[in-house]
Amino acid sequence: MKRIAVLTGAGMSAESGISTFRDSNGLWEQYDVMTVASIEGWYDNPDLVQQFYNDRRAQLAAVEPNEGHKIIAGLEKDFQVTVVTQNVDDLHERAGSTDIIHLHGELTKACNESKTQVYDIGTRSILLGEKADDGSRLRPFIVWFGETVPLISQAAEVVSKADIILIVGTSMQVYPAAGLIHYAKPGVPIYLVDPAEVNVPPNVEVIREKASKGLSLLKKKLAYKQGC
Ligand code: OAD
Repeated sequence: MKRIAVLTGAGMSAESGISTFRDSNGLWEQYDVMTVASIEGWYDNPDLVQQFYNDRRAQLAAVEPNEGHKIIAGLEKDFQVTVVTQNVDDLHERAGSTDIIHLHGELTKACNESKTQVYDIGTRSILLGEKADDGSRLRPFIVWFGETVPLISQAAEVVSKADIILIVGTSMQVYPAAGLIHYAKPGVPIYLVDPAEVNVPPNVEVIREKASKGLSLLKKKLAYKQGC
């Protein structure tokens, strides 16, 4: 089976009703990114950060995977698929994808301050002042600005072995995730699905559509190329 690496960002979950970050009305228009999504912000005001992620978890409990997530899960019938997502939601899992790397962490997990103990918490809130087993503060299992991205080498290896690369719904502005595309083998077909203009190298075929429509077009294209 050919290997597909699917790189997804916030636009992947937009049709499920989760706001993106940098679009107009996106989350970073409503919140200061460094206050709620950086390690400095956590040290300055942990209660505010907990509230921000408690709200994100509550929202996650109220949404469902969209057609785009389902199309990606369905590709596993014909391809060996790994999803590398910047998203912290669990909509790829709930749509049925089985091999997922969460570069920026997972909303449904919490951890201790040193990130050595990880707990499944589903969509419940973390209580203000709640402690991990080692006595440190329980925190969201999120990779904040100012923290290392532990899964980036694993993701780079996935991209370097892929025969086809799909990129869906990311502004490609946040590194190291945006740099993953440079690990592609020469000549590998790379497709980007995004309704807005995104700065990508000229070898990327752009499908300027929302995730569900763009992925349904792409699915037909891939089936045609496979001869099935
Ligand atoms: P952005 O908000 O930067 O970009 C979202 C992209 O999704 C844009 O290019 C939109 O055009 C596109 N988009 C909007 N609606 C769409 C739809 N229905 N279908 C497909 N695409 C659509 O989000 P990311 O690139 O994911 O990190 O942002 C990367 C990181 O920045 C996030 O993981 C987060 C953020 O700060 C942290 O919080 C650490």
